[in-house]
Amino acid sequence: MTLPATLPATFPLAERVGKIKPSPTLTLDAEVKSMKAGGKKIVNLGIGEPDFETPDHIKEAAIKAVRDGFTKYTPSEGILELREAWAAKFREDNSLDYSPDRMVVTNGGKHALYNAAQVLFGPGDEVIIPSPYWVTYPDQIRLSGATPVFVETLPEDNFVLKPERLLAAITDRTKGIIINSPSNPAGALHSREDLLALAPVLEEKRLWIISDDIYETLVYDEGVFCNVPMAVPDLMDRTVICHGVSKTYSMTGWRIGVMAAPREVARAAAKLQSQMTSNPCSIAQKAALAALTGPREPMRKMFEVFSRRRRLVLDLLRDIPGFETPVPKGAFYVFPDVSKILGDVRDGKIAGNSDDLSSLLLKECEVATVPGSGFGRDEAIRFSYAASEEEIKEGLGRISRFLTGSR
Ligand SMILES: Cc1ncc(COP(=O)(O)O)c(C=O)c1O
Repeated sequence: MTLPATLPATFPLAERVGKIKPSPTLTLDAEVKSMKAGGKKIVNLGIGEPDFETPDHIKEAAIKAVRDGFTKYTPSEGILELREAWAAKFREDNSLDYSPDRMVVTNGGKHALYNAAQVLFGPGDEVIIPSPYWVTYPDQIRLSGATPVFVETLPEDNFVLKPERLLAAITDRTKGIIINSPSNPAGALHSREDLLALAPVLEEKRLWIISDDIYETLVYDEGVFCNVPMAVPDLMDRTVICHGVSKTYSMTGWRIGVMAAPREVARAAAKLQSQMTSNPCSIAQKAALAALTGPREPMRKMFEVFSRRRRLVLDLLRDIPGFETPVPKGAFYVFPDVSKILGDVRDGKIAGNSDDLSSLLLKECEVATVPGSGFGRDEAIRFSYAASEEEIKEGLGRISRFLTGSR
């Protein structure tokens, strides 16, 4: 007997899964990979994943862990050595003092954010998300039962959140805010001064602050990384830092992140994790330990490559008519405004919104980009420069020829 493709209404799923959608970036990535496997010469400027190999000393640490039989359960909040290594990182890089019991090692930065939302928010709460935002935040907030409230940030402010906009969005149900700097998708950086300007509102309104620092090490030009507790130490007891090794060490597949938080929050997250995933992979924890304690040279080299590509992308985008690209200060994305192109007819086809434009670029130029709609800004599209210089030149060359009608 074959089961029907759709379950009858008498077998309904839980309401919560109906409230969320699959990650648009991961969906696009899967589509691009399958098009490539089918022989298409797609240039992938959509992906948020460094294209470098994980450095050798990290891989070796994982191999050693397997050989040593480090293949059993660990404490569900992660091994002490790794939490101590994170504590050392926070002390040395950020002058923040976290004891290991204020930390939980998670299955990636995404899982740290998920834990934070589950532990801090629930039905009736509102959580502020500055827009444009990383695609995952709204759905994670919805999964906690709370309601995401979007506060627009503007290209003319370099997508920095301004205190008056934050204040205007706060109600007596507001319980928290997510700050991501440097940001995905805009590469926006909040300086110490920007955070100090927000501090009176954060303090007075007693908000939980989730600080997503995953792109901490990718800050360019004269920019300097800062987060809320670095700018305002008094707010450390209301901040949850979510971090991870994916972007800094090119370790996206290893799935190791961390949450650093006030003790009760960290203990609650450890309890949640003990009933949900147990420990993150023991082998990947040893690899992350090698990443945090090993040589920094491979990371410095990756950063230099990203810096060169950023310049290249900005130079090439400047020459494409209709793209207006704010200069990003961090991460590995650019987020040009494309509103001048939307509504135009190209080769008889119209791109009415960012989804149409990204689809058109994928179909006509075989270049993958991510529409701004998923990030809360439909008049933009996101390019990632986690791709080689050749791919960047090829991809943007194809788009330029298509948009100028010169192909
Ligand atoms: C802003 C932001 N936060 C967190 C993550 C999570 O990264 P991971 O779960 O791979 O550590 C990502 C990944 O794309 C991201 O862009």
